[in-house]
Amino acid sequence: MPTVDNPTEKTLAALGIDGPIAVANLFAEVKARFEKEAASKSMDEANLALLKNAWLGRKSGVLTLISENWLKPSPSALKPTVGQELNRLKQHIESSFDAFRVVAEKLSSEGAAAKDRIDLSLPGVIRSIGSHHLIRTVMQEIEDIFFSIGFSVVEGPEIETPYYNFEALNIPEHHPVRDDMDTFYLDLPKGAPGPLLLRTHTSPVQIRTMEKRQPPVRVIVPGKVYRRDNPDATHSFMFHQIEGLAVDTDITFCDFTGTIDYFVKQFFGETVKSRFRPSYFPFTEPSVEFDASCVFCGGTGTSATGGTCGKCKGSGWIELFGAGMVDPAVYGFVNYDPKKVSGFAFGIGIDRLAMLKYGIDDIQVFFQNDVRFLRQFP
Ligand code: FA5
Repeated sequence: MPTVDNPTEKTLAALGIDGPIAVANLFAEVKARFEKEAASKSMDEANLALLKNAWLGRKSGVLTLISENWLKPSPSALKPTVGQELNRLKQHIESSFDAFRVVAEKLSSEGAAAKDRIDLSLPGVIRSIGSHHLIRTVMQEIEDIFFSIGFSVVEGPEIETPYYNFEALNIPEHHPVRDDMDTFYLDLPKGAPGPLLLRTHTSPVQIRTMEKRQPPVRVIVPGKVYRRDNPDATHSFMFHQIEGLAVDTDITFCDFTGTIDYFVKQFFGETVKSRFRPSYFPFTEPSVEFDASCVFCGGTGTSATGGTCGKCKGSGWIELFGAGMVDPAVYGFVNYDPKKVSGFAFGIGIDRLAMLKYGIDDIQVFFQNDVRFLRQFP
């Protein structure tokens, strides 16, 4: 109300009020004005404080102005009436504020409750749930292909004895092939039976399987293997292999090449060329190395910039896996009769297969856990 034409800023004489009825009417008008002002606002804590200051404020509240401008300078004949009306108005305003306070407190506790309330209709927070690593996906692809031709999965320990990792695979203690598979031996407490090592290939599981089962055997063995290889674009000290072993009374080299050919066509399609190379593994005879044409240079050995392709080192081929017919000497370690049974085995490097199929030019990205790489293979 502190406006220029605010009647509470003028005396009663200035307003022309000279009798008790006019005084009563004037107070009725002020009261109506209070009601109107209070009704126009929602009675929350902030509005309540403003309204209270405007009406009950000590310095310039409406009641202070009435006391100063109407009551104090009023003629003595009117003073009792003005005093009574002012008291009535004060009581009314104060009791109104008591009621408003109750409303304001209710509003504020309802507001707090609304904030805490869980709205089940709101959509939830979407959390990314991750996906298979590309190595796991490729492993699954390979497994599915071999499942379709009657192989089943077996697994073996990553910590092995030299007997399973080497000797039973026809690799005696001082055989030079062990140099290629130099690996990590475990520090064992004194007196513990040992030595133990991180397996260098999945081939020990061939032995473990044949010890437990009689032919026919048709298994694949996916898993991690370890070697002291220096890391580069195609070498890692930990990588993945999938071993294959088929042994029966009538398995021939043709069954072997037919199986590998089927696998390669299923996995890569017809575009990638493949080749067998004579090779040597103490546990297969004959042994072969299986290569695929380099997808990075299209098998030319020359990079896009005209230099030597760094991925296949200019050969146009990338080695994928070793394989061969099971050496009869191995059957001696598992009590199979080499005159009655024959079979083939292979050990595929899964990481290199994944690199070829998905055009990845560095094996290290598989193990760096960079989400920008991982997200490309959801
Ligand atoms: C072996 O490990 C034999 N056990 C495979 C085998 C099984 C032969 C059954 C015969 C019968 P090799 O050392 O070549 O063979 O390894 C097999 C494959 O593993 C290689 O062709 C390659 O694809 C992959 N590989 C080898 N070393 C590494 C490495 N450091 N990093 C990534 N992949 C590798």
